Amino acid sequence: MDSLKLSTILLSLLSLATITQAQDPNYLVCSCPNTTTFTRNSTYQANLNLLLSSLSSNSTRNNINGFYNVSAGKDPDEVYGMFLCRGDVSNSVCRNCVNFATKDILKKCPIGKVATIWYDECELRYSNRNFFSAEYDSPVFFSNRYYVTVEPERFNQLVAITLSNISTRAASAPSGDKKFAVQQANYNLQILRTLVQCTPDLSTPDCRRCLAGAISKLGSCCDGKQGGIVIFARCNIRYELYEFYNATAAAEAVPAPPPVSLSPPPASGSETRRKGKGGVSTGLIIAIVIPVAVSLVLFYLGFCFLCRRAKSNKYFAQDNDVANEITTVESLQFDLSSIEDATNHFSADNKLGEGGFGAVYKVSKRFVRHLKSEEPRRSCIKI
Ligand SMILES: *[C@@H]1O[C@H](CO)[C@@H](O)[C@H](O)[C@H]1NC(C)=O
Ligand SMILES: *[C@@H]1O[C@H](CO)[C@@H](O)[C@H](O)[C@H]1NC(C)=O
Ligand SMILES: *[C@@H]1O[C@H](CO)[C@@H](O)[C@H](O)[C@H]1NC(C)=O
Ligand SMILES: *[C@@H]1O[C@H](CO)[C@@H](O)[C@H](O)[C@H]1NC(C)=O
Ligand SMILES: *[C@@H]1O[C@H](CO)[C@@H](O)[C@H](O)[C@H]1NC(C)=O
Ligand SMILES: *[C@@H]1O[C@H](CO)[C@@H](O)[C@H](O)[C@H]1NC(C)=O
Repeated sequence: MDSLKLSTILLSLLSLATITQAQDPNYLVCSCPNTTTFTRNSTYQANLNLLLSSLSSNSTRNNINGFYNVSAGKDPDEVYGMFLCRGDVSNSVCRNCVNFATKDILKKCPIGKVATIWYDECELRYSNRNFFSAEYDSPVFFSNRYYVTVEPERFNQLVAITLSNISTRAASAPSGDKKFAVQQANYNLQILRTLVQCTPDLSTPDCRRCLAGAISKLGSCCDGKQGGIVIFARCNIRYELYEFYNATAAAEAVPAPPPVSLSPPPASGSETRRKGKGGVSTGLIIAIVIPVAVSLVLFYLGFCFLCRRAKSNKYFAQDNDVANEITTVESLQFDLSSIEDATNHFSADNKLGEGGFGAVYKVSKRFVRHLKSEEPRRSCIKI
């Protein structure tokens, strides 16, 4: 009895410590069409509240592999919802992100029947339609605001090849397991990081198909961009030139091959040797050690130069690109001030209400979102 009480107290203290330590997730983007709204105190709202608390409470379960989908209510007022956490985040980070999202999404989309919110760590969405059926699942894609400056064609190619390769790996995980894979590749003196993920319930061919569809969108959003994200309900892909996932945790979450030196056109040498023998061959060691050593030396040599260049050049030169992009491509859809805002924390929200920018995506400052013209206009409104 006493030890039970004691452990309860200890557990409470532990969870209190976790709560106080927990950080807000890193917001990326949200969307909600202003064409489908519910009235306050309606059945839909009641169902939505039920759904959100169900998502929130189920996020504490440990055996869900970061994914849960559920619906609430009956037909005209039925609400479908899901969350998906990034494959490498811990259960507690996942839980924290989902809990935060269930509150945050209502602040940003107070009366939207359909809403989605994305953070680095997790995604949460709900709708009056079952977004798992293909006809209601239109992808959202957005890109890092910066362009690669060296060999953009080669970069695009490297991104596509690496993402395709890891798609096969992610999709091959048994049904119910995390379908998630990350891979690094060397790009000049930088490291390209790629990630693909499907919801754990997808079959291998469906996951591969979904990811292939996502990769095929890269041309529309992310040509020559330093980073990009494409999100369907059941799968998503992302790449960046910085570490946007925890590589250590990712390696623990799903077994992955060691980082390899990649450069298209693919060097067949190391791959064939690896497949040829059961053990670790000398050829493999050479194939790995030499590029790594050379990369390290080059990295070391290039490091200070890059640092200096990044400090002096990056923002000055590339902000001009961004300004061009916003005025030419995004002027109608974007709240310019929210993109240029120095923080990610919606200090420009008031402008939304009064300005001509009624229908916008609120996007974290690092990203630019690309709307297809036939897509309905959407908004993320703050009360
Ligand atoms: C909704 O219900 C709450 C409490 O039941 C009430 O205070 C509020 O006035 C209602 N709002 C509308 C718009 O009916
Ligand atoms: C998960 O959600 C369902 C409703 O969909 C609810 O009945 C159940 O209690 C939740 N599980 C947990 C662990 O909270
Ligand atoms: C989750 O989605 C799948 C696929 O559409 C569906 O079969 C299942 O019923 C959903 N689960 C809930 C609880 O809605
Ligand atoms: C990455 O994951 C590892 C293992 O799960 C953890 O120990 C480490 O603190 C994480 N790093 C960051 C920066 O979150
Ligand atoms: C991708 O996989 C193919 C075949 O599995 C291999 O030949 C190629 O080298 C790989 N490329 C990259 C960039 O991983
Ligand atoms: C949705 O937003 C657009 C663009 O601001 C606006 O013209 C339209 O009236 C809004 N629709 C509704 C139903 O509020």
